[in-house]
Amino acid sequence: MAVVRIAALGTAAVCITGLLVMPDFACAQNKVVKPRSAAVKPPSAPMQKEINEQTRIYQSRGEQVPAEYVTDRSLLSYTITLLPDFDLSLAKLGPADRWLDIGAGQGRAVLDYYGERFDAMHAEGREQRGSKARAVALSIEDRRTAEWQQIAVTLEPGKIEYRFGKRLREYAPEELGRFKLATDVYGGFSYTANLSLFMEQVLAMLDVNGSFYTVLIDVNPEDWPQRPATPRAPFQTGIISAAGAEVKVCSWLKRIRCAEASCEVDTRSATPIERYRVKKTCENTAVPALESTHFVAGTPPARQFQLMEPAAAP
Ligand SMILES: C[S@@+](CC[C@H](N)C(=O)[O-])C[C@H]1O[C@@H](n2cnc3c(N)ncnc32)[C@H](O)[C@@H]1O
Repeated sequence: MAVVRIAALGTAAVCITGLLVMPDFACAQNKVVKPRSAAVKPPSAPMQKEINEQTRIYQSRGEQVPAEYVTDRSLLSYTITLLPDFDLSLAKLGPADRWLDIGAGQGRAVLDYYGERFDAMHAEGREQRGSKARAVALSIEDRRTAEWQQIAVTLEPGKIEYRFGKRLREYAPEELGRFKLATDVYGGFSYTANLSLFMEQVLAMLDVNGSFYTVLIDVNPEDWPQRPATPRAPFQTGIISAAGAEVKVCSWLKRIRCAEASCEVDTRSATPIERYRVKKTCENTAVPALESTHFVAGTPPARQFQLMEPAAAP
């Protein structure tokens, strides 16, 4: 028994070490599994240093948590941040549906959904909503609060789940199941060094006709009315083609097979913020692959990617 426990602890330690030193290392059920995409190169030493620093931010506690690392946004804040139709999409979910919040932090938005205030603000769909959808809050690090524990025990079993300990792409598809709605408010979509693998995983977990709502800050939007006349510093998240030309995040999302992407700049902000909805339209999704070329730890990190052009047919 003791030997089995030591062996299990050993594998877990290998997993944690692997996560720290190799971003494409993956652990499932405490087993070391191979990276999903053979195309991903191991990070250079300087990039690895930044990835380690990012891990330190995730694991920070108390006074060590950087002030800009916000983990307690309310559902109201999600509603204001995401595209306006997110609110209705959530309100329309019924008890047979599932909602995944990726990069949930403390999971406050999920808790707010089950509160009376949500029903008071969405009176019209109340009957159809019934006891509401089941929700999964996902975070790399465990930021559950006493409030989460208190509310979880008052809800019917299985209504809310908090999953932590690994990144989205490290879950096998059957581990989390399928979702009608997925959200990401300054979570994995803003923080991952592997944006295309992240999107592949989101789409694999969505039902057909399900939608993913997310946002990026400091990105070159498809349409930007306040665009400055003079050149500015590189955007926090950027993509270039193999030939070095800029590829906007919106146009990359629009190239995904079996998906429809909508992009809208948030005109309330001087820093360009773009909000996205990606709706899965059929099962056979394919995300144009991106390679990480630059990653500097932060809240969120600065990231540059290169679009990998598909190999020419022989
Ligand atoms: C800044 S917090 C945002 C929390 C919450 N959405 C909010 O607005 O309060 C970032 C969250 O994203 C999570 N995260 C970052 N990268 C992730 C990934 N690849 N997969 C899953 N979660 C991720 C972190 O663990 C953390 O929970």
